[in-house]
Amino acid sequence: MSYSKRILVTGGAGFIGSHVVRLLVNSYPDYLIFNIDKLTYAGNLENIRDLESAPNYRFERIDILDADAVAQLMHQMDFNAVVHLAAESHVDRSIQDPLAFVHTNVLGTINLLNAARGAWAGQFENRLFYHISTDEVYGSLGDTGFFTETTAYDPRSPYSSSKAASDHFVRAWHHTYGLPVVISNCSNNYGPNQFPEKLIPLFIHNIRHRKPLPVYGDGKYTRDWLYVVDHARAIDTVLHRGKLGETYNIGGFNEWKNIDLIQLMCRLMDQKLGRPEGDSASLITYVTDRPGHDRRYAIDASKIQRDLGWEPSVTFEQGLSLTLDWYLNNQDWLDSVTSGAYQQYYDKQYKNRF
Ligand code: NAD
Ligand code: DAU
Repeated sequence: MSYSKRILVTGGAGFIGSHVVRLLVNSYPDYLIFNIDKLTYAGNLENIRDLESAPNYRFERIDILDADAVAQLMHQMDFNAVVHLAAESHVDRSIQDPLAFVHTNVLGTINLLNAARGAWAGQFENRLFYHISTDEVYGSLGDTGFFTETTAYDPRSPYSSSKAASDHFVRAWHHTYGLPVVISNCSNNYGPNQFPEKLIPLFIHNIRHRKPLPVYGDGKYTRDWLYVVDHARAIDTVLHRGKLGETYNIGGFNEWKNIDLIQLMCRLMDQKLGRPEGDSASLITYVTDRPGHDRRYAIDASKIQRDLGWEPSVTFEQGLSLTLDWYLNNQDWLDSVTSGAYQQYYDKQYKNRF
């Protein structure tokens, strides 16, 4: 079959990538969606099991640090677009092992940029390199204000520094070699299939098992939460309508202090599990803070809303309820990803904190 477009997605077995792949495979039967993923601890083919037999979908296990494999694939497949999500993504792990983040997030991105440049050989019509990034590159806000697309970069963790570096390299390939690029920087995602090292799935898992809920510092750190399917919709929008060379901030217009969000989750979990009110909240335990913890993130997403017509489709109440239900109904998934190496990570991360 000949496809109207061939799209390479990197990191499509991860949390956000799996939702992006699903949306693209189902929305565009005339596109070939080619997913490459190293399948690290965070990548799981179970996340996209439903797509395995889709005729317009292919998967290959490739490490983006393998420059030859990436270049060969790009030459062979003549992709129209790369949607680059593969990354090491967890701030706490970046504090434990910064170099892994430099390797995948910086060098891996450069390998992809080189491969795209080589394969496209100056023929840039109908081509796009779309880099998925984070609001953390902008640093930390005080009590007021928002990150816009022109906010100066001020990354403060090894993770955000590696993402900031990758953004700079993507822009450098645009300005220096003319590569057609677009970047989006998104706030905190939540939803099904998120690895339970991140706040929301970790706390769902711990509530279910009546384990302590480790709240870092004073719990008054603030994040802007977006349902993952709405991020995938935004990526689809930027992929098709984003202007070359531009950056788009994506966010949920939905700021929560951690402790308020945790209290809400505890109340909802008590209801869903049929436990007495206050049962889950009794697990809340304040622990040693994350080093260099960014105080507040808040995204001004008015540019993508105004220029490309995107906005979230799901309210936070709906999205959180869907998310809690998904984890409660998919306990096999949660149990399978929390066996083995997860326990070692958990012990190392939380052992001396309580
Ligand atoms: P994730 O950790 O759930 O998934 C990352 C995926 O990348 C996994 O499938 C993993 O196997 C794969 N991967 C890692 N190293 C690789 C390598 N060397 N080669 C090939 N594949 C590799 O991450 P996520 O939360 O889905 O984030 C996806 C992207 O979105 C990242 O670039 C992240 O920086 C960005 N982002 C995430 C959030 C968020 O809240 N999770 C918000 C904004 C931006
Ligand atoms: O803002 C976008 C970023 O959001 C993404 O780029 C990252 O990939 C993603 O991991 C996320 O980073 P955060 O550090 O904000 O997410 P995390 O879920 O790790 O933490 C959310 C908040 O909860 C943060 O203030 C730290 C706090 N926290 C987290 C954990 C894991 C706790 O209090 N206790 C915990 O055990």
